[in-house]
Amino acid sequence: MNLIYLDEVHSTNQYLHELLQREKCEEGTCVQTRFQKAGRGQQGNSWESEAGKNLTFSLVLFPDFLSAVDQFILSQMVSLGIKEVLDNYMEGVSIKWPNDIYWHEKKIAGILIENSLMGSHIEHTVIGIGLNVNQELFVSSAPNPVSMKQITGREFNLEALLNELLQSIFSQYLKLIQDEDGDIRFRYLNSLYRRDGFHKYADANGEFMARIEKVSQTGRLCLITDSGEQREYYFKEVSFV
Ligand code: BTN
Repeated sequence: MNLIYLDEVHSTNQYLHELLQREKCEEGTCVQTRFQKAGRGQQGNSWESEAGKNLTFSLVLFPDFLSAVDQFILSQMVSLGIKEVLDNYMEGVSIKWPNDIYWHEKKIAGILIENSLMGSHIEHTVIGIGLNVNQELFVSSAPNPVSMKQITGREFNLEALLNELLQSIFSQYLKLIQDEDGDIRFRYLNSLYRRDGFHKYADANGEFMARIEKVSQTGRLCLITDSGEQREYYFKEVSFV
């Protein structure tokens, strides 16, 4: 595996996209940085990460066997890869649909996956991961960040942790290559935040109580309301209240 370490960069996702345009990259190439000057989050948000305290990295995969309609499986396998590493260090980790990593009610890691399509297939995917590790104070307006150090009280070795995460993500990827996507979908569903019971949600029409029924192949969240109605949402069409 090819690991590129940068002291600082605008965004590791952006760097990897530019690298892919310039030259041939080995599958699994990973770009890690001590500090991102313009770390990107989902929906055009920025990603806060204090220099040298956390993991901010991106890796490239070439899942050209996947159709564009199946791309949500990439979010599922990456979230699971991260969750399963964090499970070794703490209790209470879950995946908040579609792909935020939570510890109880707080966000410990974010994932930004950017797929490039060729026809109806995926040509390459840039998977950006920000994991809050040793940071103790968060200053941005991010609503509910938390770090591994805040949770466990101990300092983590970033290099060792990065290795564990990459191993874990690659082992999920291997399952995908071996057609074990059913297993990934099953474990993803059972790792979801608010997996059990009825909780409050809000959509364009207001608040309602519902429980998670399933996540569709294309990544839609399927809820059953307390009056038995089934509702399906794409990202941002519904929020957890
Ligand atoms: C989110 O908003 O939850 C996604 C955050 C993703 C942040 C990571 S940090 C490494 C990679 N490079 C970026 O610019 N963003 C991702």
